[in-house]
Amino acid sequence: MSKRKILVTSALPYANAGLHLGHMLEQIQTDVWVRFQKMRGHECYYVCADDTHGAPIMLAAEKQGITPTQLVDAVRELHLADSQGFLIGHDNYYSTNSPENKAFAEQVYKALRADDKISSRTIEQLFDPEKQMFLPDRFVKGECPKCAAKDQYGDNCEVCGATYNPTELKNPYSAVSGAKPVLKTSEHYFFRLGECADFLKGWTSGSTTRADGVSQSHLQPESLNKMNEWIEGGLQDWDISRDAPYFGFEIPDAPGKYFYVWLDAPIGYMASFKNLCDSKGIDFDAWFKPGSDAEMYHFIGKDILYFHALFWPAMLNYSGMRVPTGVFAHGFLTVDGQKMSKSRGTFIQAKSYLDCGLNPEWMRYYMAAKLNGRIEDIDLNLNDFVARVNSDLVGKYVNIASRSAGFISKRFGGKLADSVADTAILHQLQAAAPELAAAFEAREYAKALRDVMALADEVNAYVDANKPWELAKQEGQDARLQEVCTVLLNAFRLLTIYLKPVLPKLAEGVEAFLGVAALSWADADTLLLGKTINTYQHLMQRIDPALIDKLIEANKQNMQATANTPAATYELLADTIKIDDFAKVDLRIGKVLACNFVEGSDKLLQFTVDLGFEQRNIFSGIRAAYQEPEKLVGRNVVVVANLAERKMRFGVSQGMIVCASGAEEGSGLFLLDVDQGAAPGMRIG
Ligand code: MSP
Ligand code: ZN
Repeated sequence: MSKRKILVTSALPYANAGLHLGHMLEQIQTDVWVRFQKMRGHECYYVCADDTHGAPIMLAAEKQGITPTQLVDAVRELHLADSQGFLIGHDNYYSTNSPENKAFAEQVYKALRADDKISSRTIEQLFDPEKQMFLPDRFVKGECPKCAAKDQYGDNCEVCGATYNPTELKNPYSAVSGAKPVLKTSEHYFFRLGECADFLKGWTSGSTTRADGVSQSHLQPESLNKMNEWIEGGLQDWDISRDAPYFGFEIPDAPGKYFYVWLDAPIGYMASFKNLCDSKGIDFDAWFKPGSDAEMYHFIGKDILYFHALFWPAMLNYSGMRVPTGVFAHGFLTVDGQKMSKSRGTFIQAKSYLDCGLNPEWMRYYMAAKLNGRIEDIDLNLNDFVARVNSDLVGKYVNIASRSAGFISKRFGGKLADSVADTAILHQLQAAAPELAAAFEAREYAKALRDVMALADEVNAYVDANKPWELAKQEGQDARLQEVCTVLLNAFRLLTIYLKPVLPKLAEGVEAFLGVAALSWADADTLLLGKTINTYQHLMQRIDPALIDKLIEANKQNMQATANTPAATYELLADTIKIDDFAKVDLRIGKVLACNFVEGSDKLLQFTVDLGFEQRNIFSGIRAAYQEPEKLVGRNVVVVANLAERKMRFGVSQGMIVCASGAEEGSGLFLLDVDQGAAPGMRIG
């Protein structure tokens, strides 16, 4: 078999929250494939990174009072822990905010420019006059132009499903500041995708012959259909620039203009690989030069096909680089037949799964047992999850070892028989290897695992037919008992080889138990005879269904804690202070005597607050959350009473009313109250 060179990626997660089980579906699909290729002896690398740039990450950092770099560094640690927790074997997990990525982004851009693939023109866009920034579609909200539903995003309406331009929204407001956006012009840079149509027609419908002579289609049939529709619909030039302020890389020779996050994100695959090459002494250029015999595959979700099947191959091709060998898209994870939901507790964070004490290999097995090479949504049915893992992994597979290992250690000093006559079942298992390999190669894991479990059923039938526990009681059956148990442990070893891409840690346990080196795919050609093995220790527990309830509860609580924001986006804790620092802030109970809208401001409310010893005039930017100011009259609030006065356009503000808010946009603002009996002017501390 000829040795292949294979570079594999999964999509780069956004660096703004922890990973959830949807992300894990993708990483598990990728990791199983990579581990399989490595077991086959190919030179295979799996790289990934965090996708760190863009306005949402910049604004999230600002809200938390930290720099974007601090935010993405902190999130990268979370992501690494999540992936490692699920036994994802990245060869490198890097960041798009890296020197390698900056250099490649510039290199690609300059090459495209030299090839006349970049144009520029002035466009009109909504601008937040208060925040002094252009607003991405998702940061403009207003009333849907079709159905008039309130608080809809600038690109589509979640109520009626209409899509539109942000400029079409009625009564638009900035989700960043609440200000009314204005139209403003700016020069933007475009990648002339329309010029790439012929190349893209060829590439999307084409295939590449691998080093081992096999032909690999670039796209799955469903993807190809989609791309054809898009290409036929006419390819629009792609806007690749954004104006400052923006967290990203500045465009060469264009001060104040930044690469749009989706330009440097896929280039992040190259950057992560380059970083790996530099540390491992791999020849990067040999893998990335045009026509390289190295294969390159991208595992992605169906939602980002456009970027990977059109923009990315075109960018690579016209900047003088190799193109992908295949883009492998998968469907979305649903839980109990529905979209993951925060209120139902089914928007399950990877970390919460691990924290609840659930074994990552249970989920790896379950997801793999449902995955295939097509773009179908995958359902995690929680009852089925428990039943399937317990019956397949524990009942059928691990049981084979637990029913035979004890006899070998107790009766034969741990020694396997030197030879076995009973080879039919083992030959049947060995003969399955090529078909199983073909299924893994084609990402038909569901089929592979079905076949493996059918083999395990055969082995269990052999156990029942030969009854080692009865042989153990009979006189003169020692040799037969040793032979039957040797057959069973060899069957167990073969099944372990086939399951190893999915269950790497369990396989390690089996290797330690058998006292053998790391099992590779080719080891299925051999048997283990005459060897002294170690004592068997139980390899996998059953799932206790109570753990699932715990998991759902944990993710519901997560939901309550962060209101309608993605989980794991708490603000970072501020620096530690001394009690004296706290004493400097004079917080008092205030009673609202009057509260009104402020003419000329759609953000502010004007309060008259009684502090007992005096009355204060205070402006507070909470109008978005309290649309009926008259209802606040008579209630208590908490006031920073010794804050320096501030002159505003509408008058002088004499203090600040404190409010709770989440780290994310849209998490709301909540005034504080005090228990009955407290009076205006009381100090808080
Ligand atoms: N940052 C971009 C990708 C850039 S790649 C150069 C992005 N990030 S993401 O965090 O939103 O998603 C990362 C991957 O997870 C994508 O492939 C996406 O399709 C996948 N999934 C996100 N939610 C998912 C499910 N519920 N189910 C399955 N995959 C899902 O997109
Ligand atoms: Zn609508």
